[in-house]
Amino acid sequence: MNHVHHSSNGHKRRIGLLTGGGDAPGLNSIIEAVVRVLSRNDFEIIGICDGFEGIFSGRTQPLTIDTIRGAHSTAGTLLGTSNKSRIDGREKEFAEKFSRLKLEGLIAAGGDGTFAALQRVIDSIPTIGVPKTIDNDLSGTELTFGFDTACSVVADSADALRATAEAHHRAIVIETMGRNAGWIALGGGLASYADVILVPERPFSREKLLHFLNREKNSGRKGLILVASEGARADDEKAHLTTSKLGGSHGNRYEGFSNALVEWINAESSWESRNVVLGHLQRSKAPTTTDRFLTSAMGVEVAELALNKKWQTAVVYRNGRVTHAPITDIMQPAKMISNEHPWIDLAQQLGIFI
Ligand code: F6P
Repeated sequence: MNHVHHSSNGHKRRIGLLTGGGDAPGLNSIIEAVVRVLSRNDFEIIGICDGFEGIFSGRTQPLTIDTIRGAHSTAGTLLGTSNKSRIDGREKEFAEKFSRLKLEGLIAAGGDGTFAALQRVIDSIPTIGVPKTIDNDLSGTELTFGFDTACSVVADSADALRATAEAHHRAIVIETMGRNAGWIALGGGLASYADVILVPERPFSREKLLHFLNREKNSGRKGLILVASEGARADDEKAHLTTSKLGGSHGNRYEGFSNALVEWINAESSWESRNVVLGHLQRSKAPTTTDRFLTSAMGVEVAELALNKKWQTAVVYRNGRVTHAPITDIMQPAKMISNEHPWIDLAQQLGIFI
């Protein structure tokens, strides 16, 4: 990779990079890795500001080794992001504005919203996709970066809250992000040996949960930790989904599950209950070392794909290593927790209510 890559007209090769949708710890690590490799190969790397917004408005910033060095350890995205911009109905404008940037191709790090939007223009724009979400629910890849960091925030919080739960003889409910996928609650709850893990994929029986809570109380337990996904629900109710004007990336938000759960626990069980909504803390921490290994490897793979002009591909993690696949692999329906997933059995073996 030491020879210099010029385009056929003798100019430096020029590539765009954008981050779309909710931020995820590790995005800046991907950016640093891509810029490190491509600038060593004499590419010009153009950062597109605020996701698709930057393409529509033409706002860009050159990314050089000097501007990105050290970014890998920081949360957020140095390019900014947007989860509101849509391409629907503006496909022609998008393609025109993109061609004005004179880019050979586009590296796009995004979640389901970003890739659903990109699907509309994929035929006209040479693209390399980077699957990104703390929710870990993108298909085509066994792991998304940011997930490990989010799980560690949940686990650290659960470990810390156990002290006050026990001091006050309370059942504390910790609400995690994840929309309709339970990966963060399952990963963070397992890592902290939570007493109860509630995920959307497994609507729970109130009768069984009540029985568990009262049994723990009667056995002398001083406090309990329940880790619940924002999208979790009892089998007699719908998920707590609200449509707000702000809308978020999906036009709706999951809100209120843990509030309703503590009300119910207070009313029905022998426990006093309180809840903590972890919210955006799960997205805003420096990436863990696991997420750094994943993102540096993904960034290098992305750069290799660009060097070799392997467009319409995506970097993915499969069978213990970072590799690539057709970009359409990550544009499939969300990856949910199946009943057969080994973590379900693991939780049950540990005596966790799930
Ligand atoms: O998809 C990532 C995610 O962090 C979800 O887990 C969460 O429900 C949502 O984004 C929150 O989005 P917003 O940034 O719009 O509050």
